[in-house]
Amino acid sequence: MDRFYITTPIYYVNAEPHIGHAYTTIVADVLNRCHKLMGFKTFFLTGTDEHGDKIVQAAQAAGMEPKAYTDRISGLFRQTWPKLNIENDKFIRTTDPEHIKVVQYVLQKVFDAGEIYFSTYRGLYCVGCERFYTERELVDGKCPDHDKPPVEREEANYFFRMSKYQDWLIKHVEANPDWIRPERYRNEVLAFLREPLEDLCISRPVERLNWGIPLPFDSNYVTYVWFDALINYISAIGYPEGELYAEFWPVAQHVIAKDILKPHGIYWPTMLKAANIPTFCHLNVHGYWKTDEGKMSKSHGTVVRPLDLAPVYGLDAFRYFVLREMVFGLDANFSEDALLHRLNSDLANDLGNLFSRTLAMTARYFEEKVPPFGSQPDAMDRELREKTEKAIAQLSEEIFNLGFHKALIAIWECIGAANKYIDHVAPWNLAKEQDLLPRLQTAMRTLLEVNKIVAVLISPFMPSTCEKMLERLGIAKKASDLKLAEDALWGTLEEGAKVSKGESLFPRVVKTADKVKPHDGVAAKAKPKTQEKPETQAAAGTMEVGGAIDIDFFRQVDLRVGLIKQAQKIPQSEKLIKLIVDIGEERQIVAGIAKTHSPEQLIGKQVVLVANLKPVKLMGIESHGMVLAVRDGQDLKLVVPEGNVSPGGKIS
Ligand code: MSP
Repeated sequence: MDRFYITTPIYYVNAEPHIGHAYTTIVADVLNRCHKLMGFKTFFLTGTDEHGDKIVQAAQAAGMEPKAYTDRISGLFRQTWPKLNIENDKFIRTTDPEHIKVVQYVLQKVFDAGEIYFSTYRGLYCVGCERFYTERELVDGKCPDHDKPPVEREEANYFFRMSKYQDWLIKHVEANPDWIRPERYRNEVLAFLREPLEDLCISRPVERLNWGIPLPFDSNYVTYVWFDALINYISAIGYPEGELYAEFWPVAQHVIAKDILKPHGIYWPTMLKAANIPTFCHLNVHGYWKTDEGKMSKSHGTVVRPLDLAPVYGLDAFRYFVLREMVFGLDANFSEDALLHRLNSDLANDLGNLFSRTLAMTARYFEEKVPPFGSQPDAMDRELREKTEKAIAQLSEEIFNLGFHKALIAIWECIGAANKYIDHVAPWNLAKEQDLLPRLQTAMRTLLEVNKIVAVLISPFMPSTCEKMLERLGIAKKASDLKLAEDALWGTLEEGAKVSKGESLFPRVVKTADKVKPHDGVAAKAKPKTQEKPETQAAAGTMEVGGAIDIDFFRQVDLRVGLIKQAQKIPQSEKLIKLIVDIGEERQIVAGIAKTHSPEQLIGKQVVLVANLKPVKLMGIESHGMVLAVRDGQDLKLVVPEGNVSPGGKIS
């Protein structure tokens, strides 16, 4: 069986989890879930990096002992991931005794091989980075990451003969074009390697730092935090003898952001080479999430916590957004507006509507049961099936190239095609004639099959949504148990199986004035924001009276042209009329226009309506929208389009 091993960086515990960490970990989770879906046996590792100066300083600032402090923050990371639907197989801490043993084993091995030596070094040291800098690497005399001048420091230390492996590394990068990907980062590593590689200082004297792993060959020193941390990727799976190591190390892939390219692209492979351990298969490097305030990182004190946003907008919406928005390898801007836009357009409008329309019509025409393919598929059915099957192929292809946004675009093309199919096929027209029942059956079955496959395809990205969809389609399966080869086959829904309409998958969200702001400082508690839930916001209507609204606010109102097909006065009410309006699908609307309009006058008339209002009951009858009218003295005039317009035409 094919295997797949994916790791995230192990995160420093001097800050609480934020969107940067969340993105990397979601990417690893999606890669892991995709490989599982494709039948791979997988292992997914994440964890925390807990030694070194930085952690000691953060613990001091919090008035805590390093151990108690690292336990607290590491716990926060561990608790965050399940809340984002992340299912890692192991969570490693560099303070775990097994990890410490492996680090010491590797150090001894490399020391015995003569690849570590003792020497005095004088240089420029950045405390934030925990490393010495060469003059060349500084920008205006400052550390490029921390924007602070380094301090001069002289130390007798142990050094790893990294320089010895420069030629080997250059050859390896050149011979394996996608070893470091995307290419821009491979080129960056090759650019580093154009300059002579220096040896790496891998120890810190105990009198300066005792929060680290003691060197096995000199107890006056602890291990440099990077030499300790990188080894987590093998210690976590039981190097040197463990079964998991034998099984998964040969297929190891790392996901990191560009900030830690050098330790991963240079230190790590040379360390592995010196320890006579085969190198990893791929180093996958992504860009940075930025806010308006600049780079989002602990050192700059601007962070957006996923926990602030995910519960407000939904875990799956958050996962979808970060994967759809960022092109893997490039930087992206984070904005709540963009998140809201994706949620309302791609999720509520495209996916949510497709699913609810399909299920509502299955309920209406087939008593909530999966119909058979009643007639032979026609050209339109075949085209939609082909689109769906193309999305399956594209998912596999794009994922191997880290094209998350492209995989999602392919799935959304299929969703878009299915929505158009509904408009063209107009099942509500087929339903009018008994002779057309077989055609209606095929159309609805086609749509149900598309929805099921879409649910399977989105499972790595939005596992909860997938499970909700499958459940309503009568399939009881966990997202992580799905297999593309079996569960994404066309035509496998069970005829007669019960489906259920349920609530909308993604209620539309109206933006509040109280935006979730990036918070400053790293010591802030993860207290939940007081922002209301989307549903409540939408229901309460958050627009300020008399205040100007922005265009995005207006766009959230779905105004459509509808054709009144039926109209009936509601007995016991002077004002209300029940209408059936064709807006590309049939809508039942209760309108308060009976005093000025008779049912006969209304049938065949075009009107404008608000199509995305929450359903309400008036005199016990459900109303799914509102007809627009204007009061003129005693009179009430309906708002109508200028000429004849196709039913469902969107007003903008
Ligand atoms: N402890 C080291 C990694 C050791 S791995 C053997 C470390 N930790 S960190 O907490 O600083 O995490 C850095 C990683 O967090 C980045 O490589 C990236 O995965 C993620 N991100 C942190 N901020 C980020 C953004 N603003 N944008 C995207 N990802 C970033 O370095």
